[in-house]
Amino acid sequence: MVDERKLIARLLDQHRSVESQAKRVLGSLADHEARASLEKARVDWTPGRFGSLQERRERLREELATLEAGLKKHFRLEEKSLPSLLGVLLVRAFALQHREILREIEESRSMLSEAKLEGLERDALLVEESRVQQRIGVVLRLVEEHAANEELLLGMIGAVLADAG
Ligand SMILES: [Fe+2]
Ligand SMILES: [Fe+2]
Repeated sequence: MVDERKLIARLLDQHRSVESQAKRVLGSLADHEARASLEKARVDWTPGRFGSLQERRERLREELATLEAGLKKHFRLEEKSLPSLLGVLLVRAFALQHREILREIEESRSMLSEAKLEGLERDALLVEESRVQQRIGVVLRLVEEHAANEELLLGMIGAVLADAG
């Protein structure tokens, strides 16, 4: 019982780390968006004026990679340790969501690395930027919803364990 309670505490602790990493991604995303708006507003804008946007993209990609690494570690622990506590089928359902989240992150990262900003006209650049915003927004929403579902269940199981002493 004590071990199970420790496991729940550990998983919730990892959720807090994932949450703060997701906040850093959100911060980079906002920074990225602000830079894109600034470019949009420039009257002297010419193709090639995207150096700092490219740097912000790179930072966003790094933040996503850190989020991904943290999630992979966390998902491994959940998939290994939770079946005995929550049941095999439920954990399999969570594992499906894990795969989906990791797939979305991969796609976002490759979108960020493949997209060629070079030579794009301003309008095309802004369309590209809004695709990035949208895609990463989906990742963050999936991570948040998934964690909320797990926390609801872990909280309920935790209360049972506490009640059982
Ligand atoms: Fe999970
Ligand atoms: Fe989790």
